[in-house]
Amino acid sequence: MANERPFERLLVTGGAGFIGSCYVRDVLGRRDGTRITVLDKLTYAGNEANLAPVRADPEMAARLTFVHGDIADADAVRPLVDAVDAVVNFAAETHVDRSILEPEAFLATGVIGVHVLLDACRAATGHPRFVQVSTDEVYGSVPEGHAREEAPLAPRSPYAAAKAAGELLVRSYVITHVVDAVVTRGANTYGPYHHPEKLIPLFITNAIDDLPLPLYGDGLQHRDWLYVSDHAAAVDHVLRHGIAGETYNVVGGAERANREVVTALLERLGKPWSLVREVEDRPGHDRRYAMDGAKLASLGWRAATTFEDGLAATVDWFVANEAWWRATKAGDWDGWYERQYGRRLANGRAAARDGV
Ligand code: NAD
Ligand code: TYD
Repeated sequence: MANERPFERLLVTGGAGFIGSCYVRDVLGRRDGTRITVLDKLTYAGNEANLAPVRADPEMAARLTFVHGDIADADAVRPLVDAVDAVVNFAAETHVDRSILEPEAFLATGVIGVHVLLDACRAATGHPRFVQVSTDEVYGSVPEGHAREEAPLAPRSPYAAAKAAGELLVRSYVITHVVDAVVTRGANTYGPYHHPEKLIPLFITNAIDDLPLPLYGDGLQHRDWLYVSDHAAAVDHVLRHGIAGETYNVVGGAERANREVVTALLERLGKPWSLVREVEDRPGHDRRYAMDGAKLASLGWRAATTFEDGLAATVDWFVANEAWWRATKAGDWDGWYERQYGRRLANGRAAARDGV
């Protein structure tokens, strides 16, 4: 049965991150009386400035409560879950490269944290609905065709393995404890407020500063690109219309090779391809992600933003919001950048423009 409850009181975990903050801004922006509590640990990726547009509007700000905390902290989580109609879980460590270097936090949040949230939902008297925001990376690399929801889980990075483990915990709580839960598997997401460690914002911000753009391997890996407000809208659609116990792929419908993405963003910025460096590949690099979106389409949802429009809006946002991304490239950024790219860039070479 589709769930038709109004879901007017939401707990949004990871709501200070990239997609979670878009969800909070968009849902509160509809002005339909929904109240949101954000629970966020404010890791290096969490940023309260992502919620500034809400804070700037007194009517929206009055419907937002921010709690600084960890989803793996059961004492903090239980009373928050008890007070809501639904929990939407965006909280996670999300960068594949970091999961290769330091996987521990991925497991703490992706496994223990998800378990704590599910257990709080099980115990809550109001039987809140639980939405687990997962990823296409749980399918592993998809050499051809498009993965449907019933395809086997075959994660290949510690990040993807932690996300798959979270999904399996959801499944176990649906079956054993009859928790009302749904799972979304989103494609590669991009847009405003994207942390500059990821491909698109890293390359835009480096290119603005005429810094080298480290393209892994041959740059012919394929991703399906999903604009952030489409991803947020799909999660909300599944919250409101998804069938308990089901999983939904969220596709962008924009499969591109990384080289094509880089070409497009450089064109929009008016920067030269000569900034691109071919560098040592990511270990275990998934060649292609691709999903079938028919199941969510049958519930009435489709992405609204083309890749061309979304990328133009994203590039323009980064150009107009230098203060935001320069602040996220402060603090521990230099240490991270040196560790991840120092040797790669020293050994890298100019990338030929062909091969797309
Ligand atoms: P992000 O890294 O920008 O944000 C993650 C947020 O979670 C941050 O605000 C961080 O502070 C918070 N957080 C981390 N650990 C926490 C903990 N233990 N307790 C509370 N808060 C914690 O990530 P994102 O790109 O916005 O991704 C959000 C979700 O969507 C993740 O679950 C991710 O796996 C999933 N997803 C992302 C993409 C993508 O391309 N970005 C695609 C599909 C699915
Ligand atoms: P990323 O944004 O890290 O997302 P994911 O690994 O979750 O798909 O990377 C997107 C693609 O871009 C992926 O094929 C790896 C590649 N990439 C680079 O070539 N260079 C980089 O510096 C980064 C961060 C990613």
